[in-house]
Amino acid sequence: MSDLKWWETAVIYQIYPRSFQDSNSDGIGDLPGITSRLDYISDLGVDAIWISPFFPSPQKDFGYDVSNYCDINPEYGTLNDFDILIKKTHKLGLRLMIDIVPAHCSDMHPWFEESRQSRDNPKSEWFHWVDPMPDGSAPTNWLSFFGGQAWSWEPRRQQYYLHNFLSSQPNLNHANTEVINAFSNIAEFWFDRGVDGFRMDAVHTINADSAPYKNNLADPNFKIGNLPQDQQPFFRQLHDTAQLNQSSIQNFIESFRSVADKYTGDRFLMGELDGDDAVLASENFTAPGRLHATYNFNLLEWGGLDVEGMKAAISSAIYAFNGSGRLTFAFSNHDVPRSASRQLNPLGLNETHQEALQLLLLKLEISLIGSTCIYQGEELALSDVKDIPIDLMQDPWGKEFAPNFLGRDTCRTPMVWERSNNQWAGFSDAKTTWLPISEDHLLRAGLDEAARPKSIYNQISSFLKWRKKQPAMMDANTMKQINCGSKQIIFDRISDTQSLRCFFDFETLTASFTEN
Ligand code: GLC
Ligand code: CA
Repeated sequence: MSDLKWWETAVIYQIYPRSFQDSNSDGIGDLPGITSRLDYISDLGVDAIWISPFFPSPQKDFGYDVSNYCDINPEYGTLNDFDILIKKTHKLGLRLMIDIVPAHCSDMHPWFEESRQSRDNPKSEWFHWVDPMPDGSAPTNWLSFFGGQAWSWEPRRQQYYLHNFLSSQPNLNHANTEVINAFSNIAEFWFDRGVDGFRMDAVHTINADSAPYKNNLADPNFKIGNLPQDQQPFFRQLHDTAQLNQSSIQNFIESFRSVADKYTGDRFLMGELDGDDAVLASENFTAPGRLHATYNFNLLEWGGLDVEGMKAAISSAIYAFNGSGRLTFAFSNHDVPRSASRQLNPLGLNETHQEALQLLLLKLEISLIGSTCIYQGEELALSDVKDIPIDLMQDPWGKEFAPNFLGRDTCRTPMVWERSNNQWAGFSDAKTTWLPISEDHLLRAGLDEAARPKSIYNQISSFLKWRKKQPAMMDANTMKQINCGSKQIIFDRISDTQSLRCFFDFETLTASFTEN
């Protein structure tokens, strides 16, 4: 038996609830829909599920703008539906993680609705309110990830408030102990309902500082490349000396961790974290008494990575975290183009290689130390959906920068389940779905693939079963990278009783594992 905690080696399946399964014919996925598909996830052989936010929300950022942290958005169901979902998840031997958004809430949250009214109401200090500069301008040069300034004006208070994303996502003030305590209560609410952990959204954007805030510096290394984000001024700045990743965040993190530690069952806190130097920031965020692990962005590069790029991404994370389970790797999520498509170009491959490449990428990330997140549809080698008409676009970030930038809808289209089951392949029987379903995906529908012995789904399922029997992968989080050619990635996974050479060949698109 391994001494490692479950989360140190966990393979976690990420569900984007809006696009997983619709159960009531409104074209939008929901919690009962997820419950009805749990067997499919369990049969894949993963250890846990992470569900992106399903709380009440005006859906300006599709759930990452929460207006009540302790309930379910009626579109997605009820708390009773959640209880049924968690019960079945646990019955299948899976853990359930939910997605908490501590950095900001919706401008429709009663906290903000009250706070913005005046300078002296009970919630007046719950957000970052700052007087204008003498010339009326915003207090700093900070920009929002989603375009425009990070400060918006509130006429009632004659002050600016901070938002690192949309202006409808005001940043909470984590210097305020009332805010910190509110999140402890939220954590207890969900832990009491049985959740096994939280994916914590954008922890680098939490802010616990107060005026005067410092300006960001220009990034001297910024170059216009061919990535869509290069068109956004946000990416011309360095952030970690002023706007993001400030050490003052750790008070809140430590308080939140102390809540998790009160519970039995090894509740897991995985923080989504990026930064000018994400490895350094991760070390800080996962110091004793803080997060268990951080979700590493190295392999999520928007434009994809070539083999040397992947090697470098792995090395820089391993450099700091070898021997520990304090990091999580992913190739895909709801924020970046799907890896099966995105990775083709930098590797000099075309679509005929999509399946073989996706299988190889999955095996690679699962073989690395720490936990792994698989995004819904990766097990089917789903392609990125680039042909969504502009008038059907939903993502606010995409809409802001269209038509040059497609945004994140490309990886958020609904799952397909059975090619022969209605026009939406079993996702929904509504007239239309919230985002269009891709024709191309119909050839890779989930249940059809689960029934096909040679599918990626089944190959990954066998791989995950095999992995569970490898002490080198389950008993220790240690790996040693081996020098090799520019088309290969080789490393040894090492435990007391086994050394396993893991070989990933991007020329033949095959992986092999041999005991040393
Ligand atoms: C995270 C989420 C992303 C969201 C943002 C703001 O990066 O993954 O989807 O838009 O935070 O909450
Ligand atoms: Ca629905």
